[in-house]
Amino acid sequence: MTETASPAAAEIRAIFDRIAPVYDRLNDRLSFGQHRIWKLMAVKWIEAKLGDSALDICCGSGDLALLLAKKVGNMGKVTGLDFACEQLAIAKQRQMVKCPTVPIEWLEGDALNLPFTDNKFDCATMGYGLRNVTNIPLCLKELYRVLKPGAKAALLDFHRPSQGYMQTFQQWYLNNIVVPTAENMGMKEEYAYINPSVERFPPGKEQVKLATAEGFNQATHYPLMGGMMGILVLKK
Ligand SMILES: C[S@@+](CC[C@H](N)C(=O)[O-])C[C@H]1O[C@@H](n2cnc3c(N)ncnc32)[C@H](O)[C@@H]1O
Repeated sequence: MTETASPAAAEIRAIFDRIAPVYDRLNDRLSFGQHRIWKLMAVKWIEAKLGDSALDICCGSGDLALLLAKKVGNMGKVTGLDFACEQLAIAKQRQMVKCPTVPIEWLEGDALNLPFTDNKFDCATMGYGLRNVTNIPLCLKELYRVLKPGAKAALLDFHRPSQGYMQTFQQWYLNNIVVPTAENMGMKEEYAYINPSVERFPPGKEQVKLATAEGFNQATHYPLMGGMMGILVLKK
């Protein structure tokens, strides 16, 4: 059985298909809109420019791909890849309203087996994706493979903070704000997965080691929000 056909991956895909209708509203509500700022930071840090070919892995409903589209313009090209087709359907609808003129290709595909040739992209983003894949080293290997030499990538995600009091706050926030809010939208089970996924996710320093082991020339992790959030910036 391949990684991607594993029951774990199938369950993750099913969760993201189910939450697609409420995903954007919940994100805004749960982060008080802050995730939009962190996404802008990620796009800024990869230095996407006019004419670039940009990739957004685990694009979901397309936030980062749409930001990339504004940077690369009509002469550039953006590819948004995700394995949840319900998320991609929403991304397509949002593009028609927000960015109808920039070419964005929405692809159903696997972050662990990217359907691209080597050295294809000028830059890449991944928002809240790395924590969700079933094989982080393989995902970083695939990202490395498809980037051009010198290209940058930024990977934004939730983290478990290292400070005890921030851990306590995060636990309280997940249990008392995130899960009940999701429950109101009929998605309690689906959002309960966040806590264990954050618990398993390697901390920033470990992510830097993993990325370096896959060949990246530069890897820097920037903690945000007292370590509850973080962006891993990579250069091939
Ligand atoms: C939390 S959502 C993030 C969506 C979007 N990037 C954002 O920042 O709002 C994570 C996404 O990763 C996708 N995903 C998880 N594992 C994947 C894999 N192996 N291949 C492709 N997509 C995957 C899910 O379908 C989901 O849409």
